[in-house]
Amino acid sequence: TPPELIRNFCIIAHIDHGKSTLADRMLQETGVVEQRLMRAQYLDRMDIERERGITIKSQAVRMPWAVDGSTHILNMIDTPGHVDFTYEVSRSLAACEGAVLLVDAAQGIEAQTLANLYLAMENDLVIIPVLNKIDLPAAQPEKYAEELAGLIGCDPAEVLQVSGKTGAGVPELLDRIVELVPHPVGDADAPARAMIFDSVYDTYRGVVTYVRVVDGGLSPREKIAMMSTKATHELLEIGVISPEPVPSQGLGVGEVGYLITGVKDVRQSKVGDTVTGAGRMATKALGGYHDPRPMVFSGLYPIDGSDYPLLRDALDRLKLNDAALVYEPETSAALGFGFRVGFLGMLHLEIVRERLERESGLDLISTLPNVEYEVRLDDGTVVEVTNPSEFPSGRIASITEPVVRSTILAPSEYIGAIMELCQTRRGTLKGMDYLSPERVEMRYTLPLAEIVFDFFDALKSRTKGYASFDYEPDGSQEADLVKVDILLQGDTVDAFSAIVHRDKAYAYGVQMATKLKELIPRQQFEVPVQAAIGARVIARETIRAIRKDVLAKCYGGDISRKRKLLEKQKEGKKRMKMVGSVEVPQEAFIAALSQD
Ligand code: GTP
Repeated sequence: TPPELIRNFCIIAHIDHGKSTLADRMLQETGVVEQRLMRAQYLDRMDIERERGITIKSQAVRMPWAVDGSTHILNMIDTPGHVDFTYEVSRSLAACEGAVLLVDAAQGIEAQTLANLYLAMENDLVIIPVLNKIDLPAAQPEKYAEELAGLIGCDPAEVLQVSGKTGAGVPELLDRIVELVPHPVGDADAPARAMIFDSVYDTYRGVVTYVRVVDGGLSPREKIAMMSTKATHELLEIGVISPEPVPSQGLGVGEVGYLITGVKDVRQSKVGDTVTGAGRMATKALGGYHDPRPMVFSGLYPIDGSDYPLLRDALDRLKLNDAALVYEPETSAALGFGFRVGFLGMLHLEIVRERLERESGLDLISTLPNVEYEVRLDDGTVVEVTNPSEFPSGRIASITEPVVRSTILAPSEYIGAIMELCQTRRGTLKGMDYLSPERVEMRYTLPLAEIVFDFFDALKSRTKGYASFDYEPDGSQEADLVKVDILLQGDTVDAFSAIVHRDKAYAYGVQMATKLKELIPRQQFEVPVQAAIGARVIARETIRAIRKDVLAKCYGGDISRKRKLLEKQKEGKKRMKMVGSVEVPQEAFIAALSQD
């Protein structure tokens, strides 16, 4: 297809504003999916995606659309909607010339609308503003067209109105895409350069790589090279998705499609990397590539210690499909053998954990998640800490923690409540703008550790659900952090150590000590539960002694019953862990680590 007839675009929207539904309608409207084969969220292929109703992996579909008698090719590149996957969003955007900015006509602009719009503008995309769900009785198209027009600086009349549900306005939107999105421009005679914007592991076919060709072309059976690693592979298959994969004779300038090389690991075909011809290599890679950086770390342990090899195999398998997943073995005195795993964020953590449990039938326990700290000692050495147990004991000169630049959108009546919340989370207000007299955008710098776990829930509850929130990494800053240890009868329980801000150390210590006092059964002797910073104890509870005699219940009973009871007790012991001389049932660890 000549580049003049190609349009590459994506749909960007706040979560639940209807991106997937609109994509479905476009597939139907262009005839790519037959009516009878249509199923909701056609493009979200993973089970977990469909169940949770979110898009994790981006996909690209090719749709024909005729305008003025000539058939154009529209490549719709689907982008993931969650902040954990911002890097994938930005790569998908880089493969497009235009973006449909979709806003729910009953909700208006939300935090992710803004975050995605800024990303699209950084990539110089043409923005097509669209209000969705105009069929809703609660829709206020005039009001929000005004808001949207004000934001991107156009006339409210230029804001299209559609309904992904009824299909109203969708053909007009497709026309508008052809009209406004610039066609791709590239040098057809130059050495091939194609950007990888997604890479998915398929059990049967190995890694399927999604690319957008910028210069030159790629054809089947040719040898290609990855520019970041110089690794070469043979192109076993190349084609387009419409909406199922269809092999083709190659991809030229501006075209979007997939390729298969037989590699088995997505790390050999990394998002953001440039594909070139091995015979005629390009000299300069397309910009923007970097390795995805884990932001949140947690220990993962099998509840049944003998499942450790199973967990290792499951992680190895998942890695094939998830280039962002990093892990290394670790041991905990309390939890046994497991792995320290790095994640892009909490959603990523939940998804990985769920997939491990579901696909491999494992029961897992995860330790309190933490971010990565950089600890500088007095002697000048610097230690990267992703696990509280790595926290150095020497004299500390300074500690830095990752921070994020965040955007909060809310009705203006909640400004006070939001400021108060951000204050307790050590936030710094960077700016505030009114989108309209009743809606405000607030920008905060916040420590990642303060927002990654429960900030959004706290924000929602303080704003009756009306606030939306988005963030992106913004370097790191110094902070007054300490490591709090939890001790049972003087022995540290490694799984409970945490790095927290000095002002919050006491609260953490008291909370854990109280929990453990309730969870750990009485022993034959008194057990102090302490929280300490270094050698200084900051909180203490005591588990009082008890003399437990299982045989007491068998007063007068016969001997076989006694034996049974003793056996049962032995059985129970197996699930006990020893911390020093204290017996702790494994359930106590699990309960203490579960976030409530
Ligand atoms: P993510 O993929 O999770 O980012 O969400 P999304 O933006 O793709 O939203 P999705 O298409 O899943 O739609 C969210 C909800 O809005 C679903 O319950 C849809 O049925 C509903 N919805 C989408 N479009 C319309 C519309 O035009 N009208 C009405 N009434 N409901 C819609």
